[in-house]
Amino acid sequence: MALKLSLIFAALALNAGAASAPKPADPFAGIKLTAPDGSAMANFIPWGATTTNFWVKDKYGKFRDILLGFDNHTMYGDPASNGHPYFGPVVGRYANRIRNGTFTIPVTKDASGPNKFHIVENENNGTDTLHGGLIGYDQRPWTLVKKTDNSVTFSLLDPNGDQGFPGTVITTIEYTLEVKSTWKISMHSTASELTPIMLSCHQYWNLEAYQETQDLLGHFAQFDSSNIITTNGELIPTGSLTPVEGTPLDFRKAKSIGGSINATAAEEYCGTGCVGFDNCWIYDDNDCKKPVFSLWSVNSGIKLDVTTNQPALQVYTCNGLFNPALPIPRKVDQGGPDAVYGYHSCVVVEQESWIDGINHPEFPVNQIYGPDRTYSWESTYAFSVLK
Ligand SMILES: *[C@@H]1O[C@H](CO)[C@@H](O)[C@H](O)[C@H]1NC(C)=O
Ligand SMILES: *[C@@H]1O[C@H](CO)[C@@H](O)[C@H](O)[C@H]1NC(C)=O
Ligand SMILES: *[C@@H]1O[C@H](CO)[C@@H](O)[C@H](O)[C@H]1NC(C)=O
Ligand SMILES: *[C@@H]1O[C@H](CO)[C@@H](O)[C@H](O)[C@H]1NC(C)=O
Repeated sequence: MALKLSLIFAALALNAGAASAPKPADPFAGIKLTAPDGSAMANFIPWGATTTNFWVKDKYGKFRDILLGFDNHTMYGDPASNGHPYFGPVVGRYANRIRNGTFTIPVTKDASGPNKFHIVENENNGTDTLHGGLIGYDQRPWTLVKKTDNSVTFSLLDPNGDQGFPGTVITTIEYTLEVKSTWKISMHSTASELTPIMLSCHQYWNLEAYQETQDLLGHFAQFDSSNIITTNGELIPTGSLTPVEGTPLDFRKAKSIGGSINATAAEEYCGTGCVGFDNCWIYDDNDCKKPVFSLWSVNSGIKLDVTTNQPALQVYTCNGLFNPALPIPRKVDQGGPDAVYGYHSCVVVEQESWIDGINHPEFPVNQIYGPDRTYSWESTYAFSVLK
């Protein structure tokens, strides 16, 4: 098995470097999919395997594009000009933060053991790693492998040593639009050596497409999670859990997201000086068959139910999205380009594993993959209209 895989890797590496290789397709050119029953449409670009638009019908039967993004696709590849919001891509090789940019294999508490790896630190003045380093999976041109009317597959070869990670990792992602506005996302990775892998999809949602309101008061969520992973002022996990009982973090009963944001200020759950949510909730009970997360707008009537094989969930309420020095123009069909994306006006929902599990051997997850262990991330996003 190991030998066969290494041969495949060698062949792929050779192919990637061949002088006669055809010029890759424009990584910013849109690829549009339509569900077989016409209930949903979506647009993708190979850059970051990014979803740029997602259209479903609202309670009036009208399509809305409910994803944040750039009408000018070149901006996805120019993060310096827009504050690098990670609009809609795959994040990896290791999503979220890595304490001090370091870990060991096997995993030890705060990388205290031998066999230490150092990843490029790209956050908090170069003191930790966010979303895989300076050039994460969101800033690479993925290869278009296959396209049908309702599905598209991209792949990425992430070379040994890139950003400091050990081993070559090959990832494929397949996006499929199914009937009844159901969106299936399937990611698989194989690694040539032992290495951490945690991927996620980083879509920003506004289920109203900014038509009725510019805040999250009309956005409600419900999910069964009794604990978040405790983080410090820079959102680095400390190793403990915080029970949600009696805090604004408790979404076990449905409630307005916007209506809960101000109550987060006192405890600074999203970091020093931050108001809002940017936390990792652990699902209490995920059988991978029933939806574990629901989000809806009482204004547009659009509802999202997520089924996933992941044990945890990051929710970010766009707390720092608006920067007066670098305001991001909204898409034209969301009121742009004169209107800009405001803070607390959108929700990022990332199905993932326990964040920074590679510095916390006490967490009940094994995030080290290799020739004998492939990585798999599966989620289904089912949209409907509130009755
Ligand atoms: C699109 O974005 C790119 C990258 O930021 C920029 O250089 C270019 O001027 C933009 N094009 C238009 C028409 O605004
Ligand atoms: C991680 O970095 C912090 C400062 O950011 C430092 O105090 C700490 O000692 C470092 N931990 C390790 C294990 O290197
Ligand atoms: C980064 O460093 C600058 C200059 O030393 C400081 O003003 C700023 O507060 C630091 N930011 C963080 C997030 O630590
Ligand atoms: C939250 O606080 C801001 C600033 O004080 C205020 O404008 C807003 O109305 C508050 N929101 C809610 C839902 O109370």
